[in-house]
Amino acid sequence: MAKILLAEDDETLRNLTRTVLEINGFEVFAYPDGELALEAFPGVSPDLVVSDINMPKLDGFGLLDAVRRLPHGTVIPFLFLSAQSERDDVTKARRLGADDLLSKPFEPVDLITAVQARLERRRMIELFDTRQAHLQTITLLANVIEARDAYTRGHVERVQQFALELGTALSWPATALATLEYGALLHDVGKIVIPEAILNKPGQLTPEEMSVIKGHTVAGAHIIQGVSHLKEARPYILYHHERWDGRGYPEGLGGESIPPEGRLLAIVDVYDALTTNRPYHKELPTREVLLFLRSGAGAHFDPVMVELFCKIQEEKLVA
Ligand SMILES: [Fe+2]
Repeated sequence: MAKILLAEDDETLRNLTRTVLEINGFEVFAYPDGELALEAFPGVSPDLVVSDINMPKLDGFGLLDAVRRLPHGTVIPFLFLSAQSERDDVTKARRLGADDLLSKPFEPVDLITAVQARLERRRMIELFDTRQAHLQTITLLANVIEARDAYTRGHVERVQQFALELGTALSWPATALATLEYGALLHDVGKIVIPEAILNKPGQLTPEEMSVIKGHTVAGAHIIQGVSHLKEARPYILYHHERWDGRGYPEGLGGESIPPEGRLLAIVDVYDALTTNRPYHKELPTREVLLFLRSGAGAHFDPVMVELFCKIQEEKLVA
């Protein structure tokens, strides 16, 4: 339930506003002047403030100014109820960072609409900020892992881009694309357990070294285990080295029993590996790589996904 701090000196109007807000499901903390409202602010920790302008002790402008200086007050939506909707009031309210101004007497529906709109906007901004911070942390982690591997600079970010292109072309829903965004970044997180000497070895790997490399899928899934907001990335991490024909690792799954996240990432991971320099090969021309990908349709790769991916990359070559 959203908490609203209400400051209004007119008792009748204060009670009316409180009632309107409460019957619409808000928890209201009401005060007769700005000073008392400001004192209550830290304890209440409201989601939104509704305030009159002309009040004793501390007026609405003073309250807004003081709230904006509090640690949690800078981003709180602030709505004014103004008796005189004079131009000066509106300008001053906007300059101080008020989010809206309703003229008294107001219709209850206008107040509720304004409150809901501001709360919804605040929620969207918070979601966006959280998602951005989350992605930045994951990028940091991916870059730390990549820094140990001299040959894969920029790999995870390119893989993320290619994966988003393919996921979008497959009409995956927004929630799946949001997971893809960090799943692609994290897909090789398990490489953290692989010794650098093996990771950066220029020559042929021994069978033992190869099995150490292969372990990065299971190790990665293990690393994110228990991190609830990363659990959706598991299929990207665990299954990006599976093959359509069942000859991949770690589980040797085949065809559609491989989760789609793994099938998608297998294509873009190989594409980026072949189009960039690696310890074991020089980068290859895009057309040659696309030919190789198509030759793996139904063997290494999901035939529908790989064809779609090749078409997207071909369109870029023509453009
Ligand atoms: Fe990998």
